[in-house]
Amino acid sequence: VDVLAPDTLAALDMLDLETLRRRRSAKWTAYPDDVIPAWVAEMDYPIADPIRRRLHAVIESGDLGYPAADRCGVRDALAQWLSRTHGWAPDPQAIVVLPDVMRGVELALLAHSAPGDPIAVPTPVYPPFLAIVREHGRRLVEVELARSAGRHALDLDGLARALADGARMVLLCHPHNPTGHVNEAQDLAVLAELAAAAGATVVSDEIHAPLILDGSTHVPFATVSPAAAACSVTVTSASKAWNIPGLKTAFLIAESEPMSAPILAMSPRTRHGCSILGLEASIAAFESGGPWLEAVLAALARNQRLIVDAVESALPGVEIVAPRATYLAWLDCRALALPGGPAQFFLERARVALSDGAAFGAGGDGHVRLNFATSHGVLSEILERMARAAREHVA
Ligand SMILES: Cc1ncc(COP(=O)(O)O)c(C=O)c1O
Repeated sequence: VDVLAPDTLAALDMLDLETLRRRRSAKWTAYPDDVIPAWVAEMDYPIADPIRRRLHAVIESGDLGYPAADRCGVRDALAQWLSRTHGWAPDPQAIVVLPDVMRGVELALLAHSAPGDPIAVPTPVYPPFLAIVREHGRRLVEVELARSAGRHALDLDGLARALADGARMVLLCHPHNPTGHVNEAQDLAVLAELAAAAGATVVSDEIHAPLILDGSTHVPFATVSPAAAACSVTVTSASKAWNIPGLKTAFLIAESEPMSAPILAMSPRTRHGCSILGLEASIAAFESGGPWLEAVLAALARNQRLIVDAVESALPGVEIVAPRATYLAWLDCRALALPGGPAQFFLERARVALSDGAAFGAGGDGHVRLNFATSHGVLSEILERMARAAREHVA
C-alpha cells in the first residue's frame, strides 16, 4: 500500500484513536481507553521519513553498540542547523552531548550554584524546572510572567529584584512551555545585562525553538549580546520538534570558558546516557527534517486557530492567549470555578486528560495545558467534549 509521506497535512490528519491507543508511550497508556490524552508534550504524528529510514538502517546493520557521541557528526549537524535557522554558529567542539535536556539544566544548576542559593524561575513553567531547584536544595524564587493586552512577557522588574536579592541563576524556558510565549530580543538583552551585572548564570532551555507558529523569529539567548554569550548555558534537543523524546539525546552549549569549564570538570558519567538511535535520528532531523517540520508547523498553526476559535465560541469564561510557539495551549479557566479544578473536571466530565496548571508554579492555579499536536479530527473531538462538559456545568 502506498502510504502518504508524513510531511503532508493530509497524512498528519490521518490519525485515528484506535491506532494511537496501541502506542506504548506514557501519553497513551496512562488513562483508560475512553479518555483522550492531551497532556504530556509529545506529538501524535508519524515521524519524519528521513528519521525513520536512518533508524531502520542502523537497526538493519546491527549498529547498536555504545554511542560515539563526539565523533558521529551530530555536533556539526546541530551547529549547521542553528546557523541556518537562527544565525547562531557555536563551535561544534563546544557542544556537549547529553541524554536529555533536563540533565543539562541539572548540570548547569550544580556547576553554577550552591545549596541554599536563590534561583529565579519565571512561572508558570514546565514543572521539572521547579522540582530540580528544590531537589538540589536551592531556594526557588518564582517570578510570575506579566500578562497584559493579550500577551505574555518576562517580568524584567521582578527578575531584576530577584537578582539584586542574590539569585545566582535564572532558568529560562524560551520559547515558553506552557504559554507558547516567544521572548523578544530586547527583553533577552535586558535580562543578560541584569544577570551579567549580578554575576549570575542564565540557563536557556530552547528545546521548543523550532516550533514557532506565527512566523516570528526565535532569537537564541546566547546571541543577543556578548554579555548573554558570556553568562549563559543553552540546552536543546531535536526531541521535541521532531517528536523523538524516547530516543534520549540532547545538547548543552556554553560558549564561554567560565560557563563550560565547571560543567566539563564534573565526572564524565554525569553526561552519559544518550543512545546511538537518538544521535542518528538527531542527525537526520537537523540535516533532512526540514520539510516534515514545515508540514507539522502548518498543521499546528491550523490547530492553534481551531483552539482559539473554539475557546471563544464554545467555552465561555475560558481565556486563552494564542500560543506563538510550541504545541501547547494554556487555558485560563479561573472564571468558571470548576469543581475540583479544571484538570480534574475535564478528566471526569469530558474524558480528556490535560496537564493541571497547579503543577506549573505561581500563576498556574485554575489553568490547564492542552497539547494540540494531533489530527484535526482528534482535536475537534477533544474540544467538543470540553465544550459539552462546560455547557452542562453552567446549565
Ligand atoms: C521546556 C522543556 N524542557 C525540557 C523538556 C524535557 O526534555 P528532556 O526529556 O530532553 O529532558 C520538555 C518536555 O516537555 C520541555 O517542555
